[in-house]
Parts: sequence; structure tokens; C-alpha cells
Amino acid sequence: MIVANWKCNGSRKMIQDWSKHYEDTYIPFDRTFVGVAPPYIYVEQLTNSKNAHGLDIKIGVQDIDISSGARTSAISVDMIQDMGCQFTIIGHSERRNIFDESNMSISAKLDSVGSKIATILCVGETEKENNNKDTKNVLEEQLSIIKGKIMPSSFCIAYEPIWSIGTGNTPTPNEINDIHKFIKDVVQSSSENSIVPNVLYGGSVNDANAESFFKEDNVDGALIGGASLQGKSFANIVNIFNGKTI
Ligand code: PGA
Repeated sequence: MIVANWKCNGSRKMIQDWSKHYEDTYIPFDRTFVGVAPPYIYVEQLTNSKNAHGLDIKIGVQDIDISSGARTSAISVDMIQDMGCQFTIIGHSERRNIFDESNMSISAKLDSVGSKIATILCVGETEKENNNKDTKNVLEEQLSIIKGKIMPSSFCIAYEPIWSIGTGNTPTPNEINDIHKFIKDVVQSSSENSIVPNVLYGGSVNDANAESFFKEDNVDGALIGGASLQGKSFANIVNIFNGKTI
């Protein structure tokens, strides 16, 4: 599973170029979930472009609000479903830090999505927490919102160390593998139906380092920011994940 998070980037021109470059670079392989989360305002254009180029990608969003109604500027899960979106990211560290989202509000989002579309819940520690060897405690706290919940099989986690996002620094593949195993164990033991989720790694993934992460047993894919903004480099990463490099 490879997912692009475009964050607050993109334009109509960028989508035209991206689609063409993705189409030119992608080597068909029918089993991988490839998702792209553009800003809401570009969902329709990306959908049209995907159809025009015959791209095998699912379109999703970067966040969601908890309901429809009197909630100025919000976007609800029913609306994005109406637009054909198949997944949402929630709990990204930029939402937590810039927009002050708490575990409680992220938990409410998780509930509002339910099994309507797939959810990718982001978790991750700061550099200081990492240095203090506090990573597992922090993750356990962020994952506590799952406790006692029946989780849909489409639910997955993205492990994104905050110090790795957009910095070019990453944990070692081995460290990532260890953390992913820990996340799977925590979700399995705390969810009511004992699911073992797919866990994606996110943080400075690019087409030069992706292979080293994908070799690890507990790395089920990646959530990609910067390197997903070019159709060519994103398709390269998808090809690497599929073992289809030339
Ligand atoms: P990055 O971002 O790939 O640019 O490090 C990842 C993310 O924030 O999801």
C-alpha cells in the first residue's frame, strides 16, 4: 500500500503534469493499493485526470471532520464518499501540531469514518521523545483511542516520526521494523476484534531509500509527502514496492 499525501500543495497545472508523468513511469501491477490524497479542492480534477489517463489509483483526503451540518468550512465523510474518495488520513502530526488536534478529536474522527471508507491513522514521536527513548510510550498513548473499538479490516496506521518528516533523516530500516511490530501488537491487543493492521512508514521516503524500508517484514507500504509531488518519483516508489524496477 503506497499513499501520497500532497499536503497543501498542487494546482490544476501540477495535476496535468503529475498524471502524465505517473502514467509514463508506472509499471502495471494489479495488487497494490495506490492512493493519492490531494487537497479537497482538487479531488474532482484529479478524479477526471485519473480517468482520462486510465491511472490505477484510489483518491482520498488528508483529513475529515466529524459530521455534516453547521460546521463552517468543514468537509464530512459523506461528502467525500459522494465524491468517490476511498480513504482518509487522520491524526497527521501537522494536524496535531499546527491545528491543535487532540487524541480526543482524532478519536471522534475515527468513529465518524467507521467502515465507510479506509482510515489511515498517523502516529509518531518528536525528536526529543525519540532521544529520550520514549517512542513506544508516545505511540501507545496515541494508539489508546483504539481501545475497545471494533476496527474495520481496512483500518491502517502510518508510523511517521515527526523528526523524519521532510528532513531527509529517517530511523534505520531495522528500527522501523521493530516499531511497526510494536504498533501491530498494540492494535491487536487493544482493539475489540484483535485486528492486526497494515502499518505504513512515513518520513522522507524517496525513490533512493524506499527499497531498504520495503524489505522489512513489518513494513506494509509507505505514506509519502515530498516525493509524491512528482508523478515520476511517486510512480518509481510504487514500482519499487511492487518489485517492478527496470
Ligand atoms: P515527507 O512527508 O515524505 O515529505 O517526509 C511525509 C508525511 O508527512 O506524510
